[in-house]
Amino acid sequence: MGTPRTAAPRGFVCTCGFHASRPFGRCPQCGEWGSLQPRSASGAGGAAARAVPLSEVRGGEAPRLVTGWGELDRVLGGGLVPGSLVLLGGEPGIGKSTLLLQLMARLAARGTVLYASGEESLEQLALRAARLRITEPGLHALAEPRLEAVLAEATRARPSVLAVDSVQTLLLEEGSPGSPGAVREATARLLAHAKSGAAPLVLVGHVTKEGALAGPKTLEHLVDVVLLFEGEASSSYRVLRATKNRFGSTRELGVFEMRGEGLVEVPNPSALFLAERAAGASGSAVAACLEGSRPILVEVQALTAPASGPPRRAVLGVDPYRVALLLAVCARRAGVDVLGSDVFVNVAGGVRLSEPAADLAVVAAIASSASGRAVDPRAVCFGEVGLAGEVRASGAADLRLAEAGKLGFRRCVLPAACCKEARAAGGLELVAVKDVRGALSALLSVR
Ligand code: TYD
Ligand code: MG
Repeated sequence: MGTPRTAAPRGFVCTCGFHASRPFGRCPQCGEWGSLQPRSASGAGGAAARAVPLSEVRGGEAPRLVTGWGELDRVLGGGLVPGSLVLLGGEPGIGKSTLLLQLMARLAARGTVLYASGEESLEQLALRAARLRITEPGLHALAEPRLEAVLAEATRARPSVLAVDSVQTLLLEEGSPGSPGAVREATARLLAHAKSGAAPLVLVGHVTKEGALAGPKTLEHLVDVVLLFEGEASSSYRVLRATKNRFGSTRELGVFEMRGEGLVEVPNPSALFLAERAAGASGSAVAACLEGSRPILVEVQALTAPASGPPRRAVLGVDPYRVALLLAVCARRAGVDVLGSDVFVNVAGGVRLSEPAADLAVVAAIASSASGRAVDPRAVCFGEVGLAGEVRASGAADLRLAEAGKLGFRRCVLPAACCKEARAAGGLELVAVKDVRGALSALLSVR
């Protein structure tokens, strides 16, 4: 018989549940002093678990790392959370590495940060940094695809933030990089690393053409936050949105422009999305939308044309099923029948609208193209359209109206049920409508 086995301490744990690889005088999560105790590594058969009154657990007060980039901080829900793992997804070439390097440079001003790349050499990273005019000495780089080596360096250097670019290029001891199993395993190991310390970790993941993050959807379950960086290849505008966020809303949206000197925030996206609008042309309507807490005006375009065969539908920026439904409503409830025609719908600027409040603008754009009559160029609209052709209420009418007023619009066609709330916003002439017919006659009559 050998000596009895004693459980070696494996990290530290606070009464609030915060785990750390090293002791902290003060818990970074709950702020309690001297509360972190060594945790035993006895595994599943170890000490009994003890439940605590939930009301006594202090949480959600962890100081966040604020990037100072308003567009990014808002999408994150107020900055990076200590010990969290953020997955930054997007198609190859969209600007993930650029966004991450700029983000790390911002955070480097307050402490050493580590950017580990398995994709680019140090020389390539330095060239990019020079192009982005990044000179912060606190930004340390590591060109290393081996996961073990990255984790060892992160454990040694203890950066205040760790960035890993990308999950698909990480090499494990076995298995080929980029395979679904390897990607999942690498993410799980990085997650364990993030949870064992207070430093947030940002991991880049390439999105396949189908939009799946790094192949397996299971990655999204592992991480705390999933950010998607999107945009049209032909446009310089990029939209950042959270599709999952354990620490904030998933309805927020950040807009950036890719310039020669890197990514620049776009604080007023409405002006940008409407900049190239051919006001007065048929087939175009402006929707007063809400993305998260922020109102955004976007141009919805439609083109209808006689079909030479089975009618074709191509839809960008709105749900194609929703458009199919709206086409049927137009035909049956508003006398605008394009069911036999080719119909193309597009949201300008590469924006994706998820709100039913955009319905009215889609209907107006389709009816405008079908009739050849332009939508009143000084009008915006919003409202959900139901199968009976009724126009239903949408929230935050005052925010939508304030944004429209700011951008010089004079009229707003809106659900009658929203009028009471909207009166207070003032400034615009309000046209309250109950159904699609009423909305179209208000929007298509240029006055
Ligand atoms: P990148 O960040 O490498 O994309 P990803 O990591 O998502 O694959 O950037 C992609 C493109 O961005 C690249 O083709 C060049 C362009 N770009 C600029 O326009 N300006 C810049 O300052 C930088 C660094 C890149
Ligand atoms: Mg890259």
